Amino acid sequence: MRNNMDQDILKVLYTEEEIHQRVEQMGKELFEQFQGRDPLFVGVLNGCFMFMADLVRASGLKSELEFIGLSSYRDATKSSGVVQITRDMQRDITGRELIIVEDILDSGNTLAFLSKYLMAKGAKSITIATLLDKPSRRQKAITADYVGFVVPDEFVVGYGLDYAQVYRNLPYIGVLKPSVYTK
Ligand code: IMP
Ligand code: MG
Repeated sequence: MRNNMDQDILKVLYTEEEIHQRVEQMGKELFEQFQGRDPLFVGVLNGCFMFMADLVRASGLKSELEFIGLSSYRDATKSSGVVQITRDMQRDITGRELIIVEDILDSGNTLAFLSKYLMAKGAKSITIATLLDKPSRRQKAITADYVGFVVPDEFVVGYGLDYAQVYRNLPYIGVLKPSVYTK
């Protein structure tokens, strides 16, 4: 066993290599769309950290990076529906073309809140890049422009995604054993 988290994983959905291949493709597509346009990447903390690091490198775009901390989960596997800003951005985004980088689009509450917030702050446009999309659980009319993988309605962890702040550093994406969060 490579690490002491593997034992809590029911099954691996996407391996490190599969994620790498997909993120490289997404980066190329972003380059095609945004080259010469000076976009600003806005990563949603904490879940985006690994995807953001790989996506911005894969894009090859000459661009700035920003992070915003948002929270709608209180160590549970269901969204509370209430989104809070836990860390705000450090620069003015007026007139900027933004690329939001998110780990997973689930109910849509987080991205509905964030899109509205960023437009109110004067963003010129918003493009959403999400690593995972769980469309079966959507509550808000939000669609992502770039989706890495569409996932079934199961609680997933790894490659940035957590359960109770743990498992973010798994290199793959897997389904957590229900016994981990029902005990
Ligand atoms: P939404 O607001 O319901 O769309 O949820 C977005 C946030 O919920 C994501 O940024 C994640 O932090 C978290 N989330 C939703 N589904 C999962 C999951 O299956 N595993 C881990 N985190 C999740
Ligand atoms: Mg998140």
